[in-house]
Parts: sequence; structure tokens; C-alpha cells
Amino acid sequence: MCGIVGVVPSGVGGMDVAGFLLEALALQEYRGYDSAGIAVVDCDGGGVRRLAVSGRVAKLKEAARAGGFGGFGGGTVDAIAAGIGHTRWATHGAPTERNAHPILAGGGAAIVHNGIIENHDELRAELRGRGRRFRTQTDSEVIAHLFAEGLRAGGDSLRAMRSAAGKLRGAFAVAAIARGRGEIVCARRGSPLLVGEGEGTLFVSSDAPALGGAAKRVLHLADGDCALLRAGEKARIVSAGGRRAGRQWRQTGAARAAANLGGYRHFMKKEIAEQPQAAAAAMADFVGRTGGLRTGAFGGELLRAMRDCRSVNIVACGTSYHAAMTARYWVETLAGTPCRANVASEYRYRADPGAGGSLTVAVSQSGETADTIAAAAAAKEKGARLLAIVNESDSTLARDCGRALPMRAGMEVGVASTKAFTAQLTVLLLLALGIAKEKGTLSARVEKGIVASLRRLPELLRGSLLLEGVMRKWAGEIVSCHSGSLVIPAKAGIQTGGGGKGKAGLDSRFRGNDKVFNDGVLFIGRGGHYPLALEGALKLKEISYIHAEGCAAGELKHGTLALVDAHMPAVVLAPGGALAEKTAANAAEIAARGGRLYVLAAENCGARIAARKIARVDDGCEWISPIVFAPPLQLLAYYAAKIRGADIDKPRNLAKSVTVE
Ligand code: G6P
Repeated sequence: MCGIVGVVPSGVGGMDVAGFLLEALALQEYRGYDSAGIAVVDCDGGGVRRLAVSGRVAKLKEAARAGGFGGFGGGTVDAIAAGIGHTRWATHGAPTERNAHPILAGGGAAIVHNGIIENHDELRAELRGRGRRFRTQTDSEVIAHLFAEGLRAGGDSLRAMRSAAGKLRGAFAVAAIARGRGEIVCARRGSPLLVGEGEGTLFVSSDAPALGGAAKRVLHLADGDCALLRAGEKARIVSAGGRRAGRQWRQTGAARAAANLGGYRHFMKKEIAEQPQAAAAAMADFVGRTGGLRTGAFGGELLRAMRDCRSVNIVACGTSYHAAMTARYWVETLAGTPCRANVASEYRYRADPGAGGSLTVAVSQSGETADTIAAAAAAKEKGARLLAIVNESDSTLARDCGRALPMRAGMEVGVASTKAFTAQLTVLLLLALGIAKEKGTLSARVEKGIVASLRRLPELLRGSLLLEGVMRKWAGEIVSCHSGSLVIPAKAGIQTGGGGKGKAGLDSRFRGNDKVFNDGVLFIGRGGHYPLALEGALKLKEISYIHAEGCAAGELKHGTLALVDAHMPAVVLAPGGALAEKTAANAAEIAARGGRLYVLAAENCGARIAARKIARVDDGCEWISPIVFAPPLQLLAYYAAKIRGADIDKPRNLAKSVTVE
């Protein structure tokens, strides 16, 4: 999603500001975006110059090189006093060059903005009434005009920004520059923003990785803060109440290793392959070579919250929500404690009478998902105790919750979450075990059995990754049936194009070849594998753009079964255990209607499923089975997307870090 970066160099002319901004934008590409731009203030009272493109940072770099912007890519480096950059994920207005940030306003001001301004229509009308002319369709442009008006009124940058921010409703992180000023002024409310410092140079950024280790220390602005970054001075921070505020600096430590592909063609593939190590890292503090669960690793305060909670309430989005749904089975079965998994965007607006007395667990890879942050805050207001499960320990969610369990999966770059999902599941299973142990519902025998299985988890994940070849084949078949080889039955009464092109009145997909597309793939599962069916469908949709639907196997007959015909591929998740026969019966319902079954079955699944395609996996035991089943589904989606030539790591319309609601 949108990303901000900015820099005020310590000395004039000493730094390749444009080059830094372009590299920083490249480092935050993983967040997902569809246009990008930079703007700089030239030294010696110079004006503001802007460069923007619709599309990728590589295109912006090319444009900078071609136009000699800031001396980027050779030549003399321009003397630049301050600069800001932005990657935009379009919300209001198409992802065009014109709508890209930085956005200029009269008076030589430029701003970059993350978030959504809810009262932009109102403000736009007021500003128009005062003679301001709008160039873009964005909600953000009102900020640029309000800021420029503040400057024209003779205020300093900080006052101009505070006054602009005071008029905004909604969520924002903003950074601004203006002609003749060697400074950046920024503000935030409801959207993260941090300030960095390294050898006298000051930075601003919406997430630390964009700074690539250039900042030696960073501070996270609090909600309502404004900050002024001026060359040669310390960052000046003013709180929402208008007072000078001291915020805590944190050393950034060793610069985070820049994400690299390490020989893989895609980050997603690399991250799928990293799952055995990620799972091992996630459990390292809790599972030793011998013995049971090491509950000490939860820490005394969290253990008390685990013991005392009347219920467990999980809030999350996307893939993290699917992990939460699986955890529900674990918590309820092992700890005998009521547990709910909630979609965070819905939860935040619900009156949840059960929140007080609950342990509310916010699960998020990034720790920056706006809806999850808001849902945790809503639960806290109702009296819940909070816990964050995050991959990014220094994230807003981890700070807001005050307690966090790290997933330790390592940086995840691919937009489609993979290793973070299995790491989340691992941590959630440890949490369920911990709660059960604290509440006295876990027998020593069950604890020993599950912990022994967890010890084997990395090895079992390696085993399930070996299904890669089979998944590639399945993906080929699924893609070919999606891309159409199906003759429309004459009695369906659909007119075809009869071989001609461009016949009116007919969906373009049906023209020219008398064929129709099969519009979907089904994924079914029961129990802890039902959320995995949802996740398998989500993965396929996200990156291959093939429509897919996950369904509780027993729920099929209540509607979704109507979709099944001889052309419908259905992926059946068939672990062993009590529900195996039930799942087999649901698979038979699909087969009876001609559906094509692709069955992923546990080695110990004894149920008879008559399918042409069965792949077997050693899933250890029923408790860890959903974790072991995940990689083949990720590989299936990966190969489907690859065969279709999709942009696997950066699927269209999606973002890695969703910082707007
Ligand atoms: C985005 C990503 C998903 C992710 C979801 C939640 O939609 O594309 O992969 O599952 O956000 O993200 P979080 O960081 O909170 O886990």
C-alpha cells in the first residue's frame, strides 16, 4: 500500500538526494502500489521539482535518468536541500501520472500522503470557493492546498501543517516540502510514520525497511504528532495538544538484510521454500530438544492473562484471519475456552459484549494493517487484554498491544503471504497449548504428543514441499480447464460467435471458438482444514486471478454444489481422523456430479475417495496437520499463476501492507 519516504541531508550538496529517494522507494515496493513519484527542493532558495510515473519504480528511475533529474544515474549530483517520495496505491482517482504523489499546490508546496481523507469533498468545495484550482482526482490534494494556504498566511511550516491537519477527518500520514525551505514537515493520525536520524541526516518514512539502514535510530510518531526536520537541527516534535514532545528513539541495530531472491525467480517461491526454517524459528523458545512446552517463554504477565481469560477473541485480516480460524479449533478443543475468530474490518464496528474478560489476540504479519490495529483498539476499550502475534516486532500493532509474540518468519516480500501463515499457525498452536496448560485442561500425555509432533514439523514441511512436481501438474490441468476448452451445450441456448470475431450481444470470452470458460475452482475441507480450504482458494485468486471458492465440505450441499459439473475442479483436503469419512462422502457428492477431484490426503487417511488425482502427505498428527497441508496449496497457486504469466510477487490491485481501512 502507499509508502512515504523523505530526507533532509545534513550538508548541502553532499548527498545524492534523488538517488536515495529512488532507492528507498524501491525498498518499499513490496508494500504494493501502482504509481510513484519524488519531489525535491533545490538549494539556495530554489523551487520544488517533481517527477512521477504511472507504474513501477523502475520506470521512475528510467525517467529520472533520461531527464537527468537530480543528477541521478550519472553527471553532477544536484544540490538538493530536501526531498520526498511516494509509492501510491490508488484509492481516489486512477493510478495516473497526474494523480501520483507528490502532489503540488500553488506557492511551491508539495505533499505525499498515506491514508484516506474522509471530508475531502467538503474541503475541496471550501478551497475552490477560495479560488484554489485542483489538478488531481485524489482526496490528498486538499492537504497540499491547506498546507500552502498556511504558508501563504505567513506561518512557519509546522504551524501550517498543524493547521491543515486540524481540518482533516480520516487517517493520514503526510510529509511536505516547500520552495526555499531546507526542511520536511510531517504529521500523522491513524497511519504510521517514523522519523530517522543518521550522521546528521534526517529521514521520514512510513516503514523502517525503506530507509535501508541509513538511519541509525528511529522514533515512531504518536497519533496526532507533527514533526519538523530541518538541516543541521534535531527533529522537533509537537504533540496533538501543541506541546513539544519527547518520543523514544530506538537504535535500528544492524541494517536489515536487503531482501534478495537468493537464486529464486520469485520471492513467493523462496518464501514457500523457507517454511521449515520459519516454523523452527517460530517455536524455538517454546519447544526444546526434550520435555514439554516451555511456558516460561510466554512471560509471567501474559501467562496470567492466558490463565484468567474467560474467552479468546482473535482479530485479523486476509491470510492472518484464516490462521485465526484454525486457532479457534485448537483453543476450544485443547483449552475448553470459547474462542472466536473475527474479520478485523467487521469487528471494529461491532458491539461485542464478550470483549471484556477476553484475551484479544491481534494476528498480523506486518503489524501495520489498519483494520487489525483498530479492531484491537476497539477490544481494549471494551476491557479486553491484548496480545499481538506479529512478524514485524517493531510494528504499530506490537506497540499498541503492549505484548507481542513474534513469529520470527523473517521478512516476507511476496504480497501473497506464505511462510508468515505457517509461522502464525505454529505460534497460535503454541498459544492454545499454553492457555490449556495454564487452565489445567491439558493432560501430560496430550502435551507430550503435540510437542513431539511440533519437533517434527520442519521435517514434515520439507516432506510436503516435495509435492511440488505434483502441484505443478495439477496447476497445469486447472489452468487449462479455466482457460477454456469447454463446448457450450446446445441446449443451454447461448449463442456463440460462430467463429466470427466481435459479434454483438455475446460475452467476449465466448466469441470466436464456441467455447466457454469454466469459472472457478472449489476447495473443500472440514474442521481445522476448513480454514485451509479458504486459504487455498484465496492464494489461487490472489495471484493467478482464477476465481476460487473455499467451502466447509459439509456446507456444499446448501448451495455451492450447484456450481459443480463435469468441468469443475475441486481440491479436497482429506486428513485422517474422525472427520475423514465425512469428507470422503462430500468428495463423493462432487464426483457423482462429474466434478474433477484433486485430493490432498494424509498418509494415514483410510477413507476411500475415488479420485483420479490423489497426493499423499505425512502430516504428523491431527493437531499440526493444517500447517503441513499449507505448502502444497501455496505451490498449486504459485504454478497456476506462473503458467498464466501473472506478476506473482506483485499481483494486480493488491498490497502487502494494507494501511487504509
Ligand atoms: C494484505 C496481504 C495479505 C495479508 C493481509 C493481512 O491483504 O496481501 O497477504 O494476509 O493483508 O495482512 P497482515 O500483515 O495483517 O497479516
